[in-house]
Amino acid sequence: MAKFYHITTYGCQMNVHESEKIAGLLSELGYESCTSIEDADIAVFNTCCIRENAENHAFGNIGMLKKLKAQKKNMIIAVGGCLTQQIGKADVLHKKFPYVDIIFGTHNLGRLKDYILKKQSQKKAVIEINDDDGKVYEEVKSLRTSYPNVWINITYGCNNFCTYCIVPYVRGRERSRKSSDIIAEAKELISLGYKEITLLGQNVNSYGNGTEEISFPELLEKIASLEGKFRLRFMTSHPKDFSEALAKVIAENPKICNAVHLPVQSGSDAVLKAMNRRYSSADYLKKVEILKKYVPDCAVTTDLIVGFPNETEEDFKATLSLVEKVGFASAFSFVYSKRDGTVAAKMEGQISEEVSRRRIMELIALVNSQTREQSKKYIGKTVEILCEDYDKKKKMYLGRDEYGRMVYFESDTDLIGEFVNVKIDGANGISLSGKVI
Ligand code: 5AD
Ligand code: SF4
Repeated sequence: MAKFYHITTYGCQMNVHESEKIAGLLSELGYESCTSIEDADIAVFNTCCIRENAENHAFGNIGMLKKLKAQKKNMIIAVGGCLTQQIGKADVLHKKFPYVDIIFGTHNLGRLKDYILKKQSQKKAVIEINDDDGKVYEEVKSLRTSYPNVWINITYGCNNFCTYCIVPYVRGRERSRKSSDIIAEAKELISLGYKEITLLGQNVNSYGNGTEEISFPELLEKIASLEGKFRLRFMTSHPKDFSEALAKVIAENPKICNAVHLPVQSGSDAVLKAMNRRYSSADYLKKVEILKKYVPDCAVTTDLIVGFPNETEEDFKATLSLVEKVGFASAFSFVYSKRDGTVAAKMEGQISEEVSRRRIMELIALVNSQTREQSKKYIGKTVEILCEDYDKKKKMYLGRDEYGRMVYFESDTDLIGEFVNVKIDGANGISLSGKVI
């Protein structure tokens, strides 16, 4: 049987899930997955361009294949993902890596099979990058490898145009899937035994956006009322669209996890304005307050950016102060990365690497100390864990509670896919450990 190997640049969850779709398409063509690129008949790179290091990761990986391709002339190399979707990037890739056989955009993912067949019948590379085309994904069946967790796209693209972000340019305008299709997919996955569903979109709160008959909270409610024991999560929520109705739905439906990822990006009003986030730090705190009013134990996580153009020391201090006020369960902290084509890339006042580095270290130290403090409070408590995996090195099973905390525990029997109660007796930074009871 022919074999495929794929490499994903971890940029966002969207990208990881798209790799499952690529794997689904390849298995429909008769390929099976392999664990070493040397054994592959086709290697697919699913790239990301959200930050420069993601882009470098892709370029580095593709570059390393030159030698292998020289030895294995029949191996097909395909490059997809949002990097290819940037204006002019497909040509750059083709010139830099002439041995790449197929270059396809995120909007073209559904036609990967046709490109492979085309390439097999022609010598020259197949390059297909389309503009906005929202329908293609619907027919793609994913090869899901993350049991007991699954991701379901509910929206594609983004209309927000935060000034630092390349996503609206490479993933096109926001469009929502039909609620009936989403609910049917969720129902099917639950019947197949999946235990945790995460609804995905760049901004799930604006689901529907005038084109669907139901709102995001209504969609959540409908999925949460499906039969079976499962957890429901969603990401990402834009704070400007986070509503009281959503907080209520989380509170009223036990299957919806009390955990919300609400990226704030900065605590400074001047920076938020320059980022075009369309809320102030006070607006953000108000949203958190509303959420906690209905869901007092809700774990709030966030994304933070340091070193946005013109960010002053005072602006940065405002971010630290907001982090202190909210007490995030955890946070992803990023150094601002200049993306060509965005509004911020043209701004004067780019911050030096040295300053950004210092700021991010300070921010990470603060976030970590908060996470550690919260971890300590778990000791002695019993939490329900969905067992996700087995860590061969640690010889322990691991899973998460509804708040998203990772917990390690021992077991003689295979518990993957089961809900188990674990009494916490150890807190090691962000992860916890305990005993099954
Ligand atoms: N530089 C740094 N971080 C970025 N993000 C998006 N674009 C950039 C950029 N140019 C971060 C944001 C977003 C997360 C998915 O990635 O914090 O919420
Ligand atoms: Fe990018 Fe902003 Fe859209 Fe998120 S909401 S994908 S940060 S433009």
